Amino acid sequence: MEFIVTEEKLQDIEADCEFILVVEGNLKHKWIKDLEVLETLSFEGKSEEVAYLPHLHRVYIGVSSFDRDEIRLALAVGYRAITKSKYKSIKIGSYLHNKLPTNIKAIVEGIKLQSYTFDRYKSEKIDKTIKTITISLEDYNEKQITLESAQKSIKEAIIICDATNEAKEVVNTVPDDMTPKILAKRAQDIANKLDDVECFIGDEEFLKDQKMGAFLAVSRASIHKPRFIHLTYKPKDAKAKFVFVGKGLTYDSGGLSLKPSEHMVSMKADKGGGAAVLSILKGAAELKVPFEIHAIIGACENMIGGDAFKPDDVLVAKNGKTIEVRNTDAEGRLVLADCLCYAGELEPDYLIDIATLTGACVVAVGEYTTGVMGHSSDLKHQIIKAASKSGELAGSLPFNRYLRKTIKSEVADMSNISSTRYGGAITAAMFLDNFVDEKLKDKWLHLDIAGPAYVSKNWGYNQVGASGAGVRMCLYWLKMCEHKLLISKKAS
Ligand code: BES
Ligand code: ZN
Ligand code: ZN
Repeated sequence: MEFIVTEEKLQDIEADCEFILVVEGNLKHKWIKDLEVLETLSFEGKSEEVAYLPHLHRVYIGVSSFDRDEIRLALAVGYRAITKSKYKSIKIGSYLHNKLPTNIKAIVEGIKLQSYTFDRYKSEKIDKTIKTITISLEDYNEKQITLESAQKSIKEAIIICDATNEAKEVVNTVPDDMTPKILAKRAQDIANKLDDVECFIGDEEFLKDQKMGAFLAVSRASIHKPRFIHLTYKPKDAKAKFVFVGKGLTYDSGGLSLKPSEHMVSMKADKGGGAAVLSILKGAAELKVPFEIHAIIGACENMIGGDAFKPDDVLVAKNGKTIEVRNTDAEGRLVLADCLCYAGELEPDYLIDIATLTGACVVAVGEYTTGVMGHSSDLKHQIIKAASKSGELAGSLPFNRYLRKTIKSEVADMSNISSTRYGGAITAAMFLDNFVDEKLKDKWLHLDIAGPAYVSKNWGYNQVGASGAGVRMCLYWLKMCEHKLLISKKAS
């Protein structure tokens, strides 16, 4: 799929089909050529409303405003309306007034994210006919936007969406086709294609050398051996170091604290955090952000068997802290504990872990939203702002001293579950806090993506299954950090 931006007038562009956005109640815009038909259809231009006029090859789509997520949604709705058509090309004007570059991005993102399909296991592959989307810059002068800056926006949006769709592919792929070993190979292949990126893969022996007793315990019962995956993107003259850590449970059966069958379905998505950090690194390297980026994935399966770790075990993590296992289904925090210790040794400026960690987070904020936790209000605010720009939903969940006491253990330094059934997303994050180095407390963020990583219905421009949660918000955040850097450079 190719996106073209041109200064040509919309009417002079040749395309099989035209998309026209209509702001609610404003049907008098010069691009609206079929007012009568629209009135007959009672089309009002409400958000997500669509009027497809096949005989005229025009699709009218309502938007409540020209905010970016409205545009993304509109493009997705329009694309859905014509998915069964034989059209090969679409043209669209760039309405978008003072927010032109961001909104050009939104046009690309709406289509790119909507057009992803997961058909790996379908005998009949879905045929995507749309090949070209042309955006007209008619009406804008060089002061508002140049062709080059519009092209740059398109390029960035494509990178971000490709990274998101790559994460979806990893998460949607079934456990036997995405074992820790296969995931590691995929990471290596991605690294090989990128400039300034290196990939290290550690096996069980490496975990032993590193004294990662918690990670090892979770991995033990599976025939698929664990992998510690560490990718590094190191551009010349990097301005800061970001370390992303992802939970990469290629399957979570719950272990001996076995999940009930209905909760086990979709646990292939428990590698969502790992998939996200891999895609963030890929996107960041392609965007050539001026930061050193690390992606660390703890990849393993949580299974049952004679060798399985058990409730009552006491594990010793990499930093020497002991953990009483009271529930083997709270395994993600055990894998992350060791990975966070390793990540801390890299002395990052920012440490972000991403994980499908708790069902409690889904209960707390709903299935579409990422729970954001950490000590620094500023950092939480930054990521939530980035999420909002990117179109992802994120909300902060607060720590408190009373919940912290609930993960105490009688026999070890801490228990892997809380003694209260309330606030499970927060107590899981507080457990992780024990493995974040003292110096890094205010640099650490925990993103619980248990809800949005995998949703069993279509929502907005996301399809059934994986959504690539975490990828867009973190890439937007990195771009925001880069922007801040540029501004401070200019000021000095
Ligand atoms: N992978 C799950 C969390 C999860 C739940 C992700 C639903 C996506 C959707 C995690 O390993 C888990 O099982 N957590 C337990 C923790 C409990 C035993 C304290 C949970 O949330 O029930
Ligand atoms: Zn679990
Ligand atoms: Zn899990």
